[in-house]
Amino acid sequence: MERERARIAKAREALVLLAFAAGICEGQGVGGGGARPCDPPTPFGPSHDLYCIELVAAPGIKGVSGRVELANSPGPFTVSVTADGHARFVPIATVSGLPRTPHHAPRTVYVAWATTPQMDSWLNLGVVRNGRVTLRPIEFDKFNILISAERSARVREPTGRIILRGQSPSTRPFPPDLMEFSLGAAGSPPAMDHAGHDSSAWPMVPTPPGLMMLPSEMALRPEVTPFLPATDAPLPNAEPNEVLHLKDGDIVDLDAELVRRTIAGQSFTMYSYNGQYPGPLLEVSRGSEIMVRFTNHLSDSTSIHWHGIRLENAFDGVQGVSDAFTYKLRFPDAGIFWYHPHIREDIQQALGLYGNILVREPGAKVAANREQILMLQDLLVGDPGLIPFGRESPTHALMGRFGNVFLVNGEPGYRLAVRRGEVVRFYLTNASSTRTLNVSFPGARMKVVATDAGPFEREAWVESVVIAPAERYVVHVRFDKPGKVALVNKVIGLDHLFGKFFPMVDTLGVVSVASQPVQRDLGRVFAILDRRRPPLTALDRRHSLSRPPDHTLVLTLQTHGLPFVTERLMQLDSIYFAPVEWGGTMPMMNWASTGRQVRWVLKDAATGLENMDIAWHFRRGEPAKIRLVNERRAFHGMQHPIHLHGQRFLVLAVNGVPNEDLAWKDTVLVPAGAVVDILLDTQNPGEWMLHCHIAEHLSSGMMLHFTVD
Ligand code: C2O
Ligand code: CU
Repeated sequence: MERERARIAKAREALVLLAFAAGICEGQGVGGGGARPCDPPTPFGPSHDLYCIELVAAPGIKGVSGRVELANSPGPFTVSVTADGHARFVPIATVSGLPRTPHHAPRTVYVAWATTPQMDSWLNLGVVRNGRVTLRPIEFDKFNILISAERSARVREPTGRIILRGQSPSTRPFPPDLMEFSLGAAGSPPAMDHAGHDSSAWPMVPTPPGLMMLPSEMALRPEVTPFLPATDAPLPNAEPNEVLHLKDGDIVDLDAELVRRTIAGQSFTMYSYNGQYPGPLLEVSRGSEIMVRFTNHLSDSTSIHWHGIRLENAFDGVQGVSDAFTYKLRFPDAGIFWYHPHIREDIQQALGLYGNILVREPGAKVAANREQILMLQDLLVGDPGLIPFGRESPTHALMGRFGNVFLVNGEPGYRLAVRRGEVVRFYLTNASSTRTLNVSFPGARMKVVATDAGPFEREAWVESVVIAPAERYVVHVRFDKPGKVALVNKVIGLDHLFGKFFPMVDTLGVVSVASQPVQRDLGRVFAILDRRRPPLTALDRRHSLSRPPDHTLVLTLQTHGLPFVTERLMQLDSIYFAPVEWGGTMPMMNWASTGRQVRWVLKDAATGLENMDIAWHFRRGEPAKIRLVNERRAFHGMQHPIHLHGQRFLVLAVNGVPNEDLAWKDTVLVPAGAVVDILLDTQNPGEWMLHCHIAEHLSSGMMLHFTVD
């Protein structure tokens, strides 16, 4: 008897230890990546309201409670979605008070379910017990969660008694009440606003098809002067870009100049480097150094920022250049980088000032049959031409300018011809002002191998690539079947007026696969997922995860003087924010918001200082942990791609879930209401910037500076 008791006690102890270890692996408590959404709320934790579902007991059920955390599923992206763009969450249930299996029903199990609001499809998420259980991923836009008592874990639909239930945060947006409609139907603002700008000077902005808008929304116009480059002089037609293979010590000339570009049959006056779109591709070796003699032929000041390159501080390119400047560039890291102006990006980058830099590791072999370097951008085009920009201050200050024409390397309708079985290495750069893309090649297998400034420690199969402005991803794609494979962007937009999610699909290009097989078949190499030495030792990783952040930065905004209808509708809308605003589904309100009414804010949690009043100091070589907190309670919550100049960093954790696949990055997407921890490698001395890479957010103040001594 005594022995039996001891044995049970020991088994229990082992179980507790196991549970504890599991908790640690999932980042709970000590050793984890910070607070989780279902933890007791803390001021700088992830949003409980967007990422945690409180379960309520069904009528007649006593003493049972629970909640479900909606965790980002592990992988190379800070936001997990399906190839079609549906949010994918890993539900983690914590339940207490479930009655022990009664003697008369020895086979009772508690099963968790996800179902659509119409209950037309059921997903068995797995068995729950008292305590914490990680369940199967959910890919519904809106869903209910139920926990039922069942005879078997393998039932297809709940048949037993419902114990607990809850609703996803995404079920909260509803068609609004009559009040909102009547508000939207009333009054239109005068054509001449108080600042004396003639709003009738603006052409109508295009809106996504199928989206209904209210009359007072339709009457909104930005209160700034419309601007587009213009000249009487005849302009050269822009050409597709060239590749410049550069050796150590080479000097190259880059000229910013006006060009004529024809896109989808319309002709526009735009900007270019050396008359090309995109700017010339600079191909260099790691460790080399080059000089760029830059001349500005534009009437406005501009600059070239070398995004992601850990160069000497004086050449970072944040200072305006009115006529000429020589940049000295060194390349300590292999990877795909890019260059663009750092003055009014919302205008200059959008009009074509961007190009890639491919830094190759000397002697490295590429496990692909060919390489394609793709710069992705969306341009906003109306009937009479490009939609003008705001001269004094950016338009689209709330969500950024979403374009309606998708460009790959400056042109719509990207084309590529390959042979059957070819493996193509794509280098993707998102040069859009605000649009985060979810791109895929439906039907072709894809693995992600590298990002901004280096490879992932583990390559991974992915169904799509989530790429925010300024991010880069390197993927290998194998085209096995003859025929056509599209390059698509598939996302789910939110129709704010009717509270429903709807698919948005754009075709960026087509790959034609010939039936003739490729000569050098790399299928065997392609099938293997490579591993590399992780950028951090296991010990450093654990230490970085558990230690408190050196700085906590809150991402938020302030507004003043927004039109009444915008103010009111956006407040109603704040009941729910999607992790990513994919499609700009409030086009009029967004368009009419300018940098004069919207101030995007980076706020230091410790000092309360904001934007350029913040001046952090780091000791060179001492890694710094920074916590990025995207404030849920902001007037408008949305994702921010945060970029740091001159250094590189690792993404340690998202909403407290440790990242198991590290890679060096310079830009990270922080989803709405989420908390992302990064570890900054402070190797490069100088005074640098940290900012949101949404061009309109940056132009509306969202930046700070820091010094590495
Ligand atoms: Cu690519 Cu400071 O930016
Ligand atoms: Cu932003």
